[in-house]
Amino acid sequence: MNNWNPDSWRDFPIKQQPQYPDLDKLIKVEEELKSYPPLIFAGEALKLKENLADVVNGKAFLLQGGDCAESFSQFNANNIKDLFKVMMQMAVVLTFAGSCPVVKVGRIAGQFAKPRSADFEEINGISLPSYRGDIINDIEFTQKGRIPKAKRLLKAYNQSAATLNLLRAFARGGMANLNQVHSWNLDFVKDNTLGSKYDDLATKISDTLSFMKSCGITTENTIQLTQTTLFTSHEALLLNYEEALTRKDSITGDWFNCAAHMLWIGDRTRDLSQAHIEYFRGIKNPIGCKVGPSMKEDELIRLIDALNPDNEAGRLNLIVRMGNEKIADLFPKLLKKVSQEGKNILWSCDPMHGNTIKASNSYKTRDFDAILGEVKQFFQIHKTQGTYAGGIHLEMTGQNVTECTGSTSSAITQEALAKRYHTQCDPRLNADQALELSFMIAQTLKDARKDLVL
Ligand code: PEP
Ligand code: CO
Repeated sequence: MNNWNPDSWRDFPIKQQPQYPDLDKLIKVEEELKSYPPLIFAGEALKLKENLADVVNGKAFLLQGGDCAESFSQFNANNIKDLFKVMMQMAVVLTFAGSCPVVKVGRIAGQFAKPRSADFEEINGISLPSYRGDIINDIEFTQKGRIPKAKRLLKAYNQSAATLNLLRAFARGGMANLNQVHSWNLDFVKDNTLGSKYDDLATKISDTLSFMKSCGITTENTIQLTQTTLFTSHEALLLNYEEALTRKDSITGDWFNCAAHMLWIGDRTRDLSQAHIEYFRGIKNPIGCKVGPSMKEDELIRLIDALNPDNEAGRLNLIVRMGNEKIADLFPKLLKKVSQEGKNILWSCDPMHGNTIKASNSYKTRDFDAILGEVKQFFQIHKTQGTYAGGIHLEMTGQNVTECTGSTSSAITQEALAKRYHTQCDPRLNADQALELSFMIAQTLKDARKDLVL
């Protein structure tokens, strides 16, 4: 790799970074982080890349989801467990109803740094630096809280390590056992129509397991029935942190970001001549890049060439986030150009970030119909062009929050948003809404896969 080092991004212009008042402290923290163990192992990142190559080839589907921003204050076992359960439910719905293996990737165990549309936030005539995620400053609107503090990087690392530890325990220790499929239903979902729909599906799965057992395929002899893998991912925005967790793999001699299995570049920091592209070109993890309305065809080809020069399947996930109103105009020509050039791309749909609106009571929200509308169009555009819609990227939680409006199961109105609006940043789907969406995607996926020659 020409002239690349974990710190070569420092020679490039960079956007969306905090101004640390104490640079000596920042350097000390970076040195300390460099001495800490990696959170993931390079072999795991390569395994994910293989799984994502299956998605590119139409053999699996990518489900990526979690908080917009993780927080220090809402860090507890129940929140992690509930997200794990909803992801399992969604995956089982997609696998069973959509007849398609699912690669599960959480926006978790490191999703702490946020790009912001403005550097300052003004409330009642007082202007303070914007909140940039718990790894940088405090959400509390005070002068002191909004100062970037380097020691937050250490707290983010420790919280990520503990989160990942619990996720690995759930995935391997029994929580993912398919015989538990009924128990993944969360209490507040159980009693509504969606909960019953899920229960019906769970019963079918249990019946299938009984049948398989009598054929000799049991939880004792088939590990896939009892264990799963939930990979981790986050936006690698704060490169001081990412650099400190970038390690050389002793087996391959390649550099890996060992803070998460997969990292992505945000829509606001994907400038080809800037620091984030420089950092990402050197790591061998599977990576993502958001593709928003301002992306041009030629620019996209140059971006693909910079990030995936060997055209490796599974390396690059383009996460399309145009918005329900714009996707039909903007996405087809990009998809066509990339297909014509023969690029191996995993295409996924982020129906959240192009559909954010301000409710009449000034809550930032997203409507379920717009989210669903963008997903449907995404699938339709792929169908028209004969390409594969490989995945979905969601901001969601296992909690019973009221942050996005609509859906048949939740029917949250704009007035009801105030009831349980807990997000640290953008509005998330609650467990009901996420499950409802996965039932709808399962049907579309099943139809889409019928058209593919696999
Ligand atoms: C996000 O995924 O939280 C995000 C900020 O997205 P985007 O870069 O697409 O705006
Ligand atoms: Co967001």
